[in-house]
Parts: sequence; structure tokens; C-alpha cells
Amino acid sequence: MIVAIGNNGIRHAKLEALSGAGAPLVSLLHPMAFVSQYASIGPGSVVFAGAVVNADARVGYGAILNTGCSVDHDCVLGNAVHVSPGARLAGAVSVGDRSWVGIGACARQLIRLGCDVTVGAGACVVSDVADGQVVVGVPAKVVVTG
Ligand SMILES: CC(C)(COP(=O)(O)OP(=O)(O)OC[C@H]1O[C@@H](n2cnc3c(N)ncnc32)[C@H](O)[C@@H]1OP(=O)(O)O)[C@@H](O)C(=O)NCCC(=O)NCCS
Repeated sequence: MIVAIGNNGIRHAKLEALSGAGAPLVSLLHPMAFVSQYASIGPGSVVFAGAVVNADARVGYGAILNTGCSVDHDCVLGNAVHVSPGARLAGAVSVGDRSWVGIGACARQLIRLGCDVTVGAGACVVSDVADGQVVVGVPAKVVVTG
């Protein structure tokens, strides 16, 4: 089974329920995506064409790694994260559960994004982001505090 719901919170809840009920979860990996043999991606995830997941990256379950995004070496992504088309996570970035990195956004190396964070389209994150915050712009600034 796979949950094809874009909302990260809903997808996370459905996946937990299905997993708890013993449903077999699969991941879908586009043949034109590249996932390092040293990376891991949890079940219930979808990896779109052109996505790159580099060595030692660890991605939780229920991820959406969208078209042409990149998740670089040593990144750690929680569960039900969405990395939108063309978004870039530099090395060793961490992303908490249910967070959403918008289209074309990027995060500098070693940045920590909390849970339920939204990074707006085109933002460039150069400092850590706490749980529930929405950040936009270059450099990214908080617009909503959770
Ligand atoms: C950040 C975001 C979540 C805010 O959405 P929202 O709450 O509906 O915000 P609004 O569109 O009402 O905009 C509110 C203000 O923020 C500004 N704003 C919105 N998104 C912005 C962004 N990405 N960067 C800079 N400013 C942004 C708007 O210009 C507006 O400014 P104003 O009040 O001066 O007019 C949304 O704009 C966004 O970037 N979503 C990501 C979309 C995406 O990546 N889609 C890919 C799907 S695969």
C-alpha cells in the first residue's frame, strides 16, 4: 500500500494507522531517480524523476521526494516529509516529521528544520528553524510561529 495524500499531517496519520494494522507499505522509486546504495528511504515513500538522494542520507517513511529535488549526503529526514520539485538540501541537513520544503527552496549544510515546518517556495534557509514555523525569502525569515 501507499498513501497518495499530499498533506503531510494527513499522510502521516494514515500511514501510522495502516502500519499499526499490519498493512504492507511499499515505496515507489522512479527509474530516473538516483538513490545512493548507502542511503535509506522508509516505506510508503515516493521518489520522483530526477530526484537525487546521496550517500548516507536517511529518509523516514512516507516521504515525497519530488521531481528533481536533491537530498545530499548525511541528511536525516523524519517521517512524512515533502521535498518539493527542485528543492535542495545540502549535506547533513535534518528535517523533522511532516515538514514541507517548498518548490525551488534550499537549505545550507548542517541546518536543522524542526517538525511541521514550512519552507516557502524559493526560500534559502541559512539558520535553524523551530517546530511549526513558516519561513520565506532569501535569506529565509519566519512569518508564522507555531
Ligand atoms: C509560504 C506559503 C506556504 C505561504 O502560503 P500562504 O499562507 O497561503 O501565503 P499567501 O500566499 O497568502 O501570502 C502571504 C504573504 O507572503 C508572501 N509570500 C508567500 N509565499 C512566499 C514565498 N514563497 N516567498 C516570499 N514571500 C511569500 C506573499 O507575497 C504575501 O505577501 P503580502 O502579504 O505582502 O502580500 C506559500 O506561499 C508557499 O511558498 N508554498 C510552497 C508551495 C510549493 O512549494 N508548492 C510545490 C508543491 S509540489
